[in-house]
Amino acid sequence: MFSSRTNWNRTPNRLSEALARRRAAGLEILDLTESNPTRCGFAWDADALFDALRRLEIADYRPEPRGLEEARSAVRGYYADQGIAIEDEQIVLTASTSEAYAFVLRLLTEPGDEVLGPAPSYPLIQYLADLHDVTLSHYPLLYDHGWTVDAATLESSVTDRTRAVIAVSPNNPTGSYLGDRECKRIRRLAAEHGIALVVDEVFRDYSWSESARPPASTVTVEECLTFTLSGLSKVSALPQMKLGWIVVSGPAALRDEALGRLEVIADTYLSVSTPVQVAARSLIEMRAKVQEGILRRVRGNLAELDDILSGSRCSRLQGEAGWYAVLRVPNTRGDEEWALDLIEKEGVYLLPGHFFDFPGEGHLVISLISPPEAIHSGCKRLVRNAN
Ligand SMILES: Cc1ncc(COP(=O)(O)O)c(C=O)c1O
Repeated sequence: MFSSRTNWNRTPNRLSEALARRRAAGLEILDLTESNPTRCGFAWDADALFDALRRLEIADYRPEPRGLEEARSAVRGYYADQGIAIEDEQIVLTASTSEAYAFVLRLLTEPGDEVLGPAPSYPLIQYLADLHDVTLSHYPLLYDHGWTVDAATLESSVTDRTRAVIAVSPNNPTGSYLGDRECKRIRRLAAEHGIALVVDEVFRDYSWSESARPPASTVTVEECLTFTLSGLSKVSALPQMKLGWIVVSGPAALRDEALGRLEVIADTYLSVSTPVQVAARSLIEMRAKVQEGILRRVRGNLAELDDILSGSRCSRLQGEAGWYAVLRVPNTRGDEEWALDLIEKEGVYLLPGHFFDFPGEGHLVISLISPPEAIHSGCKRLVRNAN
């Protein structure tokens, strides 16, 4: 009856079972995984949200496959504010960044083709690959006082079925940007092999450093066909609004062909709601205040984390940006055992590294937008459990 591509193992894993047991027993849970920004206790400007939507145009349906002109121009404005010049014509709106990935995979691949993606990284990419009958091959990110792309392995992983290299910059959960030099090398590789570059920049604005500039956005890449993905879910911390986008750049003929085909894919679904497009400019403009609050939380939690971990048997791996931290814990038990012990004995919920394809054991992942009290008590209990 059902396709093999949807034959997922859906039995709950041991960690979610332990969490459910604790919840059912009404016991305390310190959740260090919460990364839904609408649930992390940030103060929302309700009036600004209502005002953004309180416009008569939301009653009018203008099915524009690439997105309404004013919404695409608002996305262009987001880049212009950073001194980055792109054209409205390079932009295709989607209902989310995840949908943006789906459209790009549909555009580029035949069943059985391959895309190369980083490991460790966010599990979403594997599901998207499965749903599009594409093989996701991993290229490693290596850690040595910071993360770098294993460029030699990436280069040797390209086969005649490879259609795209995916990069997440900054990556979830390692928090590492794709550096300018790394990006240049990947662009050259993509151009040489006639494959596309797909870069997920959803967390780009969340640099932990107050002074260092993030590497260049890929929206202006010229030498290879490039799809840069982002969206309101992180840019304005409004995942419920469901607005993402693809910026297409690269050699003109390829770029225009890609845009023409993406338009037909988008026209097939017309999935972006009119209200969010009408509100897009205001919602994008809201980001300054929202990002400031989130960055204050992230930087505060990082400082607290480092303070608690100092002198303990646990440490934090270096990162540069985003909403996650990777913790290194003694390799005395597997990641999953660590996560299970912490939920069962200490009531602390965090994620084992194997969810993100970390090489080897000893990695745990926490969300840095978690409420500070949860980070404080949860990390103290982690350290206690490690000693
Ligand atoms: C790196 C990365 N890309 C994309 C997404 C999905 O974003 P959206 O909600 O816009 O689909 C996430 C969600 O957490 C993410 O971490």
